[in-house]
Amino acid sequence: MKLFLDTADINEIAKLNETGLVDGITTNPSLIAKSGRNILQTIEEICSIVSGPVSAEVTAIDYAGMIKEGKKLAEIASNVTVKLPLTTDGLKACSTLTEQNILVNVTLCFSTAQALLAAKAGASFISPFVGRLDDIGSDGMSLISEIAEVYSNFNFSTEILVASVRGVQHVVDAALLGADIATIPPKIMSQMYKHPLTDKGLEDFLIDWKSTGQSIL
Ligand code: E4P
Repeated sequence: MKLFLDTADINEIAKLNETGLVDGITTNPSLIAKSGRNILQTIEEICSIVSGPVSAEVTAIDYAGMIKEGKKLAEIASNVTVKLPLTTDGLKACSTLTEQNILVNVTLCFSTAQALLAAKAGASFISPFVGRLDDIGSDGMSLISEIAEVYSNFNFSTEILVASVRGVQHVVDAALLGADIATIPPKIMSQMYKHPLTDKGLEDFLIDWKSTGQSIL
């Protein structure tokens, strides 16, 4: 399973990329706004740090505008993935950009029917938002399960990119369901390392080791 970071914060990306466990990045207009930086410069910098797919989202809502913006974003670097909303124009633009060998991540997916259309439009990635579904009392993970079944039934190559991740358990559930990717806020990636028994075990080992008076080097 691949892990992407869901952030436009260059410092966090550079720091976590050193773990060797970051397979890609997703951004959106809200994350760019939070960074307070220019989108083109930010995406260029992220692409110079991370070699995997880097999603950059268009803000036009009409087909022609999405194509223009998508092409401009795709010119930044070969690993830019153009993020398009799951609308009629968005999926039309998805087909066009995919035909031009540009990677597309279809975002704001909240139903299996939408995911089916995105796959038929040739999307490289589909982003179902599990957290936002949970927020309204729906079950985000059951959407992942349904999409996985449908994609498997028809051998669609579109990768399931679980988005709007709210905690470590979302990542685990996505992995159990066989999702291709989870995109996670940096804080959640750091939390994935943690277990109180790891901390306690290490502390005990160090105390016992000290009592031996030995040194490995
Ligand atoms: C994914 O690509 C989106 O950027 C993101 O996961 C949305 O998450 P949120 O619901 O926490 O804003």
